[in-house]
Amino acid sequence: MELPRVAQTLLSKVPDRVVKRAQNLLERLPVVGDRVREERRKLVEGLREQVRKHRPTDLAFSELPRAAIDRQTLLATLRTLSTSESPQWRDGRLSGGVYHGDASHVGFLDEVYSLYSQSNPLHADVWPSVVRFEADLVAMTAKLVGGDAKAVDDEAAVCGTLSSGGTESIMLAMKAQRDAGRERGIRHASIVAPTSAHPAFDKAGHTLDMELIRVPVAADGRADVAAMKAAVRSNTVVMVGSACSFPHGVVDDIASLSDFARSRGLGFHSDGCLGGFILAFAKEAGFQVPAFDFSLPGVTSMSIDLHKFGYAAKGTSVVLYRGRALRRHQYFTSPAWSGGLYATPGFAGSRPGALIASAWAAMMSMGHDGYVNATRQVLETGRSVKAAIGRIPELKIVGDPLWVIAFTSDTVDVFRVLDEMSKRGWSLNGLQSPPAVHVCLTLRHAQPGVVEAFERDLRDSVQAVRDVPPSKDGMAPVYGLASSMPFKGLVGDLLSSYLDALYDA
Ligand SMILES: Cc1ncc(COP(=O)(O)O)c(C=O)c1O
Repeated sequence: MELPRVAQTLLSKVPDRVVKRAQNLLERLPVVGDRVREERRKLVEGLREQVRKHRPTDLAFSELPRAAIDRQTLLATLRTLSTSESPQWRDGRLSGGVYHGDASHVGFLDEVYSLYSQSNPLHADVWPSVVRFEADLVAMTAKLVGGDAKAVDDEAAVCGTLSSGGTESIMLAMKAQRDAGRERGIRHASIVAPTSAHPAFDKAGHTLDMELIRVPVAADGRADVAAMKAAVRSNTVVMVGSACSFPHGVVDDIASLSDFARSRGLGFHSDGCLGGFILAFAKEAGFQVPAFDFSLPGVTSMSIDLHKFGYAAKGTSVVLYRGRALRRHQYFTSPAWSGGLYATPGFAGSRPGALIASAWAAMMSMGHDGYVNATRQVLETGRSVKAAIGRIPELKIVGDPLWVIAFTSDTVDVFRVLDEMSKRGWSLNGLQSPPAVHVCLTLRHAQPGVVEAFERDLRDSVQAVRDVPPSKDGMAPVYGLASSMPFKGLVGDLLSSYLDALYDA
């Protein structure tokens, strides 16, 4: 049963604790309770089956084997497993995920990794080269996004640290913004972000006890500037914009939003996790993009991922701040511990120095010109993919994206199109509110023949959806159910069951 959209919107605003209580009450009613439990059991079993179907069985142990398995056997199994998994990303059928992926680039990063596999920047005296690589990475990235890490004036310096990924960079920035707010006397801080901003902001709000005020986006998928301004409260410490957003790949009006934040004395975070390394080189690659970085005086923090379009291995991102004082709010120090004097820049204690060294080597081996060239390839592929989607009458592109391209439809179920694309070997992303599908283009899609194959398979998929009645398999029923369920808390419950299933041995 589909509830009217208005009712769905209203019900989705019901707080989770109220939903939980209603759910508990429902489950206590004799007949209704049995029905609810049975339906949930069926849904959870379906999720577990999906996970089970994909789980490889080679050398599967849920208990430590008593006798050691010889290294040759282990290596052979790992080679078989990883080789069988690589064609999808290697051949350009994965949305995002692997951003460079060229065999020689990957081989080079692996070689650097092996040189530093034992290193840990927590021991700065033992691995001073790793510490220097980290400082270089932060300074090089700051320079690319309108900052100057070497500025003498503490407030003007754009500085930062490395983190393990976009989520950690965002959480660290929100912590720093929260603690800066505390200095201004704000005890329980709020963040104002568009609905398109990454769930890492929800995670930050949840973990750091900050309220996240989500503001619906405009029809083009970008933050609604007037609504964002109106959402600011007396306890707001930071506003957020994406450059670009994950769902629709559009760049929010960072200039207007950050100007407003500045006029109110608030922080402004520009999330460049996905887009920073493309937007920074776009102009030189011949593409017009809006300002999104520290060239705008109101931007006070940024997240920008090395492990996406920085072409480094997974586990590396940069978080940047305007002013050394703001970065200080990110740090943690423990001066009185019986284990000695302890200080870490971020959430982690020990960190993999090998990832830092290989990220440094990735940037140095690409060089400025290498990034411009790669950006040109990604953005030209974006142009071709937009044209290809435009030639399929049933599909509509959302907003005006560059290389993360979302499409929706008034005439076919796009989640079924997503499933049909999966049957043809593609791994794309399903989006909701409204239902849509996106592809995040990378250098893998710039290989010859990939765009042509994408267009052919997308056309065939749309045709298949028109010709064949829906089935119960695939993701379409799951997405359909999730978007029609009024209580998002229940969907969250199912997602937790999915996580449980991943850990089932
Ligand atoms: C805009 C944006 N911000 C943040 C993130 C989170 O990055 P990560 O998955 O590295 O934690 C992503 C990931 O896709 C993203 O697209």
